[in-house]
Amino acid sequence: MNNKNKPPKILVARAIFPEALAKLEESFEVRSNQEDRIFTPEELQKALSEVQGALVAGSERIDASALAQARELKVVANISVGYNNFDVPAMTAAGVMATNTPDVLTDTTADFGFALLMATARRVTESEHWVRAGHWDKWSIVNNPLGMDLHHSTVGIIGMGRIGQGIAKRALGFGMNVIYHNRSHLSDADEKACGAKYASMEELLRTADHVVLVLPYSAESHHTIGAKEIALMKPTATLINIARGGIVDDAALAQALQAGRIFAAGLDVFEGEPSVHPELLKCKNIVLAPHIASATEKTRRAMVDLAVENLRAGLDGKRPPSLINSI
Ligand code: DGY
Repeated sequence: MNNKNKPPKILVARAIFPEALAKLEESFEVRSNQEDRIFTPEELQKALSEVQGALVAGSERIDASALAQARELKVVANISVGYNNFDVPAMTAAGVMATNTPDVLTDTTADFGFALLMATARRVTESEHWVRAGHWDKWSIVNNPLGMDLHHSTVGIIGMGRIGQGIAKRALGFGMNVIYHNRSHLSDADEKACGAKYASMEELLRTADHVVLVLPYSAESHHTIGAKEIALMKPTATLINIARGGIVDDAALAQALQAGRIFAAGLDVFEGEPSVHPELLKCKNIVLAPHIASATEKTRRAMVDLAVENLRAGLDGKRPPSLINSI
């Protein structure tokens, strides 16, 4: 086999479903990581220097340093819709296509946003701990973990993309009043479909009974919610973050929860995850999840399949279906 006919080399930086890996091995020379140990920056730089394509996830930061030796790399396919692990200008400058996995996870992620909202407002995990700790014999009309209602309350959604709109549609089924804040207003038709009204950030924070964060992370959205914003929220309000760590100032949130400044929080994402701020771990009025909003088997398979489709297209010299940058 001459060099031209050799299969392209690819990196699969995190463990994927074995059947998907076996399929890739039919067309590519694959360096896989089924033991799922996260690469150090040095290991990632070296691994990228040896391949033409890579499948990665949020744990792999793809920036100028990671790309420094990647002379043959054509495409990096994220198995994720969010791509704050990509330095897109650096990838473009290096001539590397960047892709993500939109759409396939919208409903699953919106379902989870709603699940976390319900669990937080109704203190589901706290109640489970109560049962496990043997407190059920203390059941009383007034002394149960008493929660906040969702029905006929106001939900404020910050970030009204596909997932935010999915949460709004679910909220309508609960008879909730939906307000949103976003960089741009939705079209009249989309606002109508979601039953949602635009609000300024301050109005949303002051009015909402439940604040749900679904906006993408960027330097501009860093600490969108900090002590100052929490101070505007109702003391009875809940805060749900399914967006990205860093959108919320976790230290400020922990202080607010400990002081009873807001009712409760539900977090699927954290600053510096997989670490969780130690003060958040001390809070009772919190529901914690390990970044699982897209985690159903069907959806995670669909995300891998779309990432593979993007990778194959990029390596075949075609436009990947979810290309982020212009190469
Ligand atoms: C995404 O796709 O951005 C999700 O956060 C991953 O679960």
